[in-house]
Amino acid sequence: MQIRPVRWDGDALVLIDQTQLPHRYVEVRYTDWRDVAQAIRQMVVRGAPAIGAAAACGLVLAAQSIPVAEMADFRAEWLRAADVFASTRPTAVNLFWAIERMKRVLHTCHTPESARRRLRQESEAILEEDVQANRAIGQHGQTLIPDGARILTHCNAGALATVGYGTALGVIRAAVEAGKKVHVYADETRPRLQGMQLTAWELVQEGIPVTVITDNMAGMLMRRGEIDVVVVGADRIAANGDVANKVGTYSVAVLAKFHGIPLYVAAPISTIDLSVADGSGIPIEERAPEEVTHIAGVRIAPEGVRVINPAFDVTPAELVQAIITEEGIARPPYTVSLAQMVAKRSGEVFGDGGTAG
Ligand code: MRU
Repeated sequence: MQIRPVRWDGDALVLIDQTQLPHRYVEVRYTDWRDVAQAIRQMVVRGAPAIGAAAACGLVLAAQSIPVAEMADFRAEWLRAADVFASTRPTAVNLFWAIERMKRVLHTCHTPESARRRLRQESEAILEEDVQANRAIGQHGQTLIPDGARILTHCNAGALATVGYGTALGVIRAAVEAGKKVHVYADETRPRLQGMQLTAWELVQEGIPVTVITDNMAGMLMRRGEIDVVVVGADRIAANGDVANKVGTYSVAVLAKFHGIPLYVAAPISTIDLSVADGSGIPIEERAPEEVTHIAGVRIAPEGVRVINPAFDVTPAELVQAIITEEGIARPPYTVSLAQMVAKRSGEVFGDGGTAG
């Protein structure tokens, strides 16, 4: 079964409702862009590349629903929809990358009709390129995975978090496709449980051996010598290689460093944000306290207790052994290697002149 969490079906955007997994596999059809923005907020669709892809498609729905014929009015209204998408989730830079990409297309269009057509084409390109990038990440990344590796991952950086195949899980899939035997340990990933509900579901579907652990078990397993390598995804990577990813990644990285276990970050170029010098400039989303105080709608914390709920943390570059992108494997110093990767990618997209052409 191919997992495609974001796809077009005619004029409707189809999302897998990730809030219902692993109990129910439900696909929801969207024709109203406002509902797509809400789906991103509520994490029906989540994971950095998937959020970007969903927003791009949502902006196509917005273009289809704006009734005006005058281009200036059309543009103004469409840009208001873009602002709504930009306000949904602050950390994953893929969201802003996708919105900017769609804006660039809009600004080359002279009529609403051409804008509707060109925006739809651009959204399809974004969907297709994401899967290709993940396959390339997988090919590069699997060279770092020894046969027989016991791999720890945190959160879900799988097919569900992308348009397909996954980043961290793409590396694992590619290692399996290359004939390597692996065993995955999936951190359950409190408070939203993406590791237990999504990563475990994906791997069980494909028959890749997986064991779920609670987040606080990782250190014990590492001390017993039962983890060989850590592979995680990213929501935003700063120019110096600091990595924002699901909260808890930093703790795993510190543990891995202490135990001499390599930690690899797998992410597409669209996750690299060279405009942010280091991790201190990455906005960290604070989500509702109920995600911590409740499990499956049942309160587990005393009434009146204070909680915090930062959805991401920043792992400093010094704890990251390498960053695997579709353009290859970046190693320290990341200020140099990441800039090279980004330049290589934009050279391919824009040609030598560096403009859209
Ligand atoms: O809050 P989420 O579920 O959107 O967070 C997802 C993550 O942190 C992933 O690890 C990251 O987006 C990489 S997905 C390829």
